[in-house]
Amino acid sequence: MKLSNLVGAIGLLSVIETSVAYPGMGKTVTEIKAREPDNEPPPVLIGDIKDGGTTPIGKTIARILLEQESGESMEGGYKVPGLLGTQKCKKDTCCTWWYIARAMDIVFRGPSGRCNKFARAAVRLAFHDAGTWSQVLADQGKDWGGADGSIALSNSEEFRPENNGLQDIIKKARVWQKTFGVGMGDLIQFAANHAVVTCPLGPRVRTFVGRKDSKKAAIDGLLPGVNDSADKLIKLFQDKTISPHELVALLGAHTTSEQFFVDPKRRGDPQDGTPGVWDTLFYNQTIGTGPLPKKVFRFASDIAISQDPRTADEWAEFAGPGGQDHWNEDWAYSFIRLSLLGVNNINQLTECTKVLPMPRKTFKGAMELLKNE
Ligand code: HEM
Repeated sequence: MKLSNLVGAIGLLSVIETSVAYPGMGKTVTEIKAREPDNEPPPVLIGDIKDGGTTPIGKTIARILLEQESGESMEGGYKVPGLLGTQKCKKDTCCTWWYIARAMDIVFRGPSGRCNKFARAAVRLAFHDAGTWSQVLADQGKDWGGADGSIALSNSEEFRPENNGLQDIIKKARVWQKTFGVGMGDLIQFAANHAVVTCPLGPRVRTFVGRKDSKKAAIDGLLPGVNDSADKLIKLFQDKTISPHELVALLGAHTTSEQFFVDPKRRGDPQDGTPGVWDTLFYNQTIGTGPLPKKVFRFASDIAISQDPRTADEWAEFAGPGGQDHWNEDWAYSFIRLSLLGVNNINQLTECTKVLPMPRKTFKGAMELLKNE
């Protein structure tokens, strides 16, 4: 039985400790692709790999973006070659990232085993840095913004109203950057992948480093509004090369989320009954399947996308049987695409997935919110 169905069926349990198979395990890319909507044009390539890539890493990322190769990986077994800052460590790009991952292990995990407010903010931060890129503007020569760290490096982006609530995680990112001497754009996207795999049931997304940073503020007005229509949202994301079905997958990030600024009277209210858990309950509760705890605050934008004819079927698939594996796999493709927007040296990146923690299978207390209603 899927976790989300379990939640619906036994919503009054106060504490669970559960063990589940690793999401995505046992599913081939072909199996998962077979369930994708056939009314969408095929995914497009971006940046310097529009021709399919010229290096092994560029070609690998191209295959992932085309959904021909999985965006999840269980590659592990990394033996850190030396102490941070030593020549041995500097020789291996992933060594410093191993140390960063260990710092994040402590910061992103809450006492119950769920991912905490820093993890949630890290995922949102990655979106708000990378999401500020537009194909139409790039074609007009305004090819800046995207996953370049400018949200933390410019003097202004952080203070835009849509970035309210991200200040604490930006502060942490600045400390990490100073301590470890890596790029801010990389740090922000790496943090998001670490945060997601820290959330119970979250996928282990393939993680690439080597982006170029920019202090130039991204163009304003490229992030979505919570009251935007489905049509506006779909077009806004298509202009970032993100398809309607990838948008549905990315919106699943609200499974972990809590709002503070949409309705300040309901500060801290989550978008599903299990915040801090990477389950598909968010998809169910947005469309009204099963009991809806009073505390759950649904965003108008999520409801709009869940109902639009271009996205409703995919939304229902994630909410339905087998949705967790399907969503995790699609999240990985979609997030890798998002995390490379505006990056024009994809052929030169390095994969460091092997330093991430392994997916989390157990947690406690996931039902507390439902019980409190
Ligand atoms: C239609 C597109 C989207 C809209 C309108 C939207 C809107 C919002 C809003 C209004 C909040 C609450 C902020 C607050 O009041 O504190 C929020 C939180 C969040 N969003 Fe989105 N979002 C969108 C897409 C995304 C995407 C694509 C991602 C990730 C890839 C994402 C990740 C998050 C996360 C993780 C949080 C929770 C932050 C926390 O709990 O601190 N969102 N979003």
